[in-house]
Amino acid sequence: MAKPVSRFVCQSCGAVTPKWAGSCATCGEWNTIEEEPIPVRPGSAAKAQPGRRVAFVGLAGSAEPPPRAPTGIAELDRVLGGGLVAASVGLVGGDPGIGKSTLLLQAAAQLARAGRRVLYISGEESIEQVRLRARRLGVADAPIELAAAVNVRDIAASLEQAKDAALVVVDSIQTMWLDAIDSAPGTVAQVRACAFELIRLAKSGSFALVLVGHVTKDGAIAGPRVLEHMVDAVLYFEGDRGHQFRILRAVKNRFGATDEIGVFEMTDRGLAEVANPSALFLAERRGNVAGSAVFAGLEGTRPVLVEVQALLAPNAGGSPRRSVIGWDGGRLAMLLAVLETRAGVRLNMTDVYLNIAGGLRVNEPAADLAVAAAIASAAFEKPASAGMVYFGEVGLSGEVRQVAQAEARLKEAAKLGFLEASLPRRLAHGNRRLAAPDGLRLEEIGHIADLVARFAPESGKPA
Ligand code: TYD
Ligand code: MG
Repeated sequence: MAKPVSRFVCQSCGAVTPKWAGSCATCGEWNTIEEEPIPVRPGSAAKAQPGRRVAFVGLAGSAEPPPRAPTGIAELDRVLGGGLVAASVGLVGGDPGIGKSTLLLQAAAQLARAGRRVLYISGEESIEQVRLRARRLGVADAPIELAAAVNVRDIAASLEQAKDAALVVVDSIQTMWLDAIDSAPGTVAQVRACAFELIRLAKSGSFALVLVGHVTKDGAIAGPRVLEHMVDAVLYFEGDRGHQFRILRAVKNRFGATDEIGVFEMTDRGLAEVANPSALFLAERRGNVAGSAVFAGLEGTRPVLVEVQALLAPNAGGSPRRSVIGWDGGRLAMLLAVLETRAGVRLNMTDVYLNIAGGLRVNEPAADLAVAAAIASAAFEKPASAGMVYFGEVGLSGEVRQVAQAEARLKEAAKLGFLEASLPRRLAHGNRRLAAPDGLRLEEIGHIADLVARFAPESGKPA
């Protein structure tokens, strides 16, 4: 039987199928499947070598923490778990133009200035372009070794001489190219093979390798998702192009906690660290407006206060609109149903718009209570108390449920000058005392109807 010479690979998730299809059966993306030649394994052609014995050891033994090189950018170090780990590989993903190259050039410059050897390989931009950015960032004097190259064979040969480096940045993996692979740069086959080769070098040397990977919605280039399992840490750089701030989020980290975030602000001189994100997100809040409530949230280990805004508009007819920015639409639908069924707030003839101010994406169920407060405040046109924060999860029967890290949230609220907090009622059998900061008044809410009653007019009947 003739062996097939090509195969079909989804450029988004990397799934391989023997036949072309319009949509990928694995990830469901459309128009991402492309034909690729089947790679020839070098091992199959060469004479098979007998394997060597692997030494097995016990679990106990010396386990030194891996040596780390702090980048000097505190927000980045926090996400990395304390700095770059030697002989490890990180992937920084994100939309084109979000600031990946800027962040890495700044980090590289800091390390280089601290006397560490740093190599920056740009496959996307020319030397001139990188120099221009460095000048703009004010780091042109940092002793970085810069190269513009895309051929992984050349890069590998150069990195053999640079194993003492602390950091090697490859920007981006989608521009890298290995001549042994017979497909275009940016395809899954190329991206995987190039990453494999570079990772092998990092593991045999002592430098931390950081790969940059673009994310695209249409799957025109292979997504960083195909690399996620090959690397030690995956960081995603997120943010809204319309807003100045950017969030660096760890989604995988073999040397630290995931869920940790770093907050940056894009300025005309590069990315600036935001040490106090709550102040940034609340900067433009106006008090005494109906339809606004402050959520005491948690991002990783860090409490972050954000403003939840709700706008209700009468629906002219047809099905009412529900529009959400920064929160989950399904969760909003659930909460509206709970408000209607358990607290009698009629919203079935009303368009509901919900927005997390500042452009942050909130994923926590703990935001339920703040969202409910914003909606109730809008429904009864009564502003929430200006010094109040909210947190708590709302269940289907309208009960307000406990959430993690209540103390950290309260502390952050007190730090920013808030005076009151609405939070879930403590369980009668809960024996742990809640250590609330001095001067913060706690308002325990057991049921969503109790929350609505605080906004409803005296009659108790919703408008
Ligand atoms: P960049 O780091 O090139 O993005 P990526 O590598 O993720 O594609 O960032 C590009 C954007 O950042 C660009 O739109 C301009 C903006 N920017 C600033 O606002 N200030 C700066 O100092 C720099 C260098 C870039
Ligand atoms: Mg770039």
